[in-house]
Amino acid sequence: MCGIVGYVGPRVATPLLIEGLKRLEYRGYDSAGVAIMNGRGVETRKAAGKISTLETIVNGSPVAGTLGIAHTRWATHGAPTTGNAHPHSDCKGHIAVVHNGIIENATALRHWLADNGHTFTSETDTEVLAHLIEASFEGNLEDAVIEALHMVHGTYGIAVISSLDRDKIVVARKGSPLIIGLGDQEYYVASDVSAILEHTRQVVYLDDGDLAVIERTGYRVLDLDAHEMTRAVSQVDWDLDQIERGGFDHFMLKEIFEQPQTIENTMRGRLLEADGTAKLAGLNVTNEELLEIDNIIITACGTSWHSALIGEHMLEEMTRIPVEVEYASEFRYRNPIVTSRTLCIVISQSGETADTLAAMREAKRRGARAIGLVNVVGSTIARESDGGVYLHAGPEIGVASTKAFTSQVVALALLTLRMGRLRALSSVRGAEIIEALHALPGQIREILDRAAEIEQLAEQYIESHNFLYLGRGYNFPVALEGALKLKEISYIHAEGYPAAEMKHGPIALIDSQMPVVFIAPHDSVFDKVVSNVQEVKARGGRVIALTSRDEPQLAGLIDHEIRIPQTIDMLTPVLAAVPLQLLAYYIAVKRGCNVDQPRNLAKSVTVE
Ligand code: F6R
Repeated sequence: MCGIVGYVGPRVATPLLIEGLKRLEYRGYDSAGVAIMNGRGVETRKAAGKISTLETIVNGSPVAGTLGIAHTRWATHGAPTTGNAHPHSDCKGHIAVVHNGIIENATALRHWLADNGHTFTSETDTEVLAHLIEASFEGNLEDAVIEALHMVHGTYGIAVISSLDRDKIVVARKGSPLIIGLGDQEYYVASDVSAILEHTRQVVYLDDGDLAVIERTGYRVLDLDAHEMTRAVSQVDWDLDQIERGGFDHFMLKEIFEQPQTIENTMRGRLLEADGTAKLAGLNVTNEELLEIDNIIITACGTSWHSALIGEHMLEEMTRIPVEVEYASEFRYRNPIVTSRTLCIVISQSGETADTLAAMREAKRRGARAIGLVNVVGSTIARESDGGVYLHAGPEIGVASTKAFTSQVVALALLTLRMGRLRALSSVRGAEIIEALHALPGQIREILDRAAEIEQLAEQYIESHNFLYLGRGYNFPVALEGALKLKEISYIHAEGYPAAEMKHGPIALIDSQMPVVFIAPHDSVFDKVVSNVQEVKARGGRVIALTSRDEPQLAGLIDHEIRIPQTIDMLTPVLAAVPLQLLAYYIAVKRGCNVDQPRNLAKSVTVE
């Protein structure tokens, strides 16, 4: 979603802020702005469009100053225009506010403020905050921000500066992440660690309800009653090269190619071959407690929801505990059956997705134990869950999730080993799974070595308007994921279906213009999938099949084959996902799409 950066220290702020914004551009990219405290007061520069447009404006009309805040926006209230870009100001231009999140009572507050003489210049909910702070200001910025925040409902991560209390940045969070970066006699603020990683790895993660006052000489964390709070300093273990493209054309391609390594990282030190199980220290749960679990709910959004569906298969097969998978956005608004014997598994790359976080809180409120499968260390879901499994996939910058997906599936396999061995899984079977897990990085390398073949194949499909992805069993979720990857970055309409479900409706779509991607490795449902391929071929459809060995049954039925190595059924999604990511990537690039910043999308959806 949107991104926030702030700086106070001895250096000129603007280049640091623009650099930080560029690193956050993957989170939202429809408009941007900076506000700098200089000799005259608060000066702002804003632009619709990409950060590079803002940079051109700033270069043409520089603002000097050593304290400032900046923002990259993903529009919620109001179109992505310069006028709606952050920072937003009060009537006199003394205050500047950047904001991630949504102020739900903005309309009522806007009317009230307008009735009291305030004049608005944008359509945003954020501007309300600037006027509320103006109305509350009595000489001290943090007091005014606290008073304003008591009046708003909704979610926020905010950074505020004022020429009337000029040597500080006041930040606050509720439902939208914010960190303070500690430099050498300088401080940073960011909604995401990548914005400041170049300058510091020492950070303070703020909690919901925290407000911080950051001055040149130090920082203080307060609650909204102005009581001082203590927050630990954490060390970020990401490297700068992990958030750079490193010679690849796009972050997405880099992240696809990182998968042998990221999967290795997810497994590192966690597999216990002799016992056929996995060691997951962060789970924070004893064997006795795991044995008490009598149902599992997995909740997530988007790609993470697809890995949840794969987890459902694994866990049911190996633990015999009933598993339910829920879209996080649906889970929270029904009346789910959750007891103290429910294990709620929450899957999120970012650890900040608003719906997923809310679903986890709801499950906990109803008595479930919540464990998070999260990539971003220190994220809200990671901190609020009762325990979890970090993916260790490294920063995922490409908006389309790739390496996080395969790491999620591997993490689910580890969890399955851990829970399965307490119940229905033998040590021999566990050891077989571990052997297959160890083989995955090499097998992914084999697929990546043949990326050029997939690139050639992509060339033939760039004019297509629709795609169907079909798979069964463990690979039905892969069909959903393949279709999602294609539609979100190439804008080609694509649907994923369980292969056999096709004849109940989607088969009507099949003609010579309809490419159908079958995920058909040699697994337990292979013969069934072949029948579905025949149904498509009989209607003139063009078939691309992902297979794992020479299959005479497919001879004459498929137009293109993508070969993946053989593995056990439960791990086929890891191998099948990779060529589908590449297919989507190459089709999108050849259609001239910006795969790292697809239209309308943003990484980490921190609004409902
Ligand atoms: C798709 C994609 C999204 C995310 C979804 C959940 O490529 O990236 O569908 O998977 O927004 O995000 P996380 O996993 O961060 O909760």
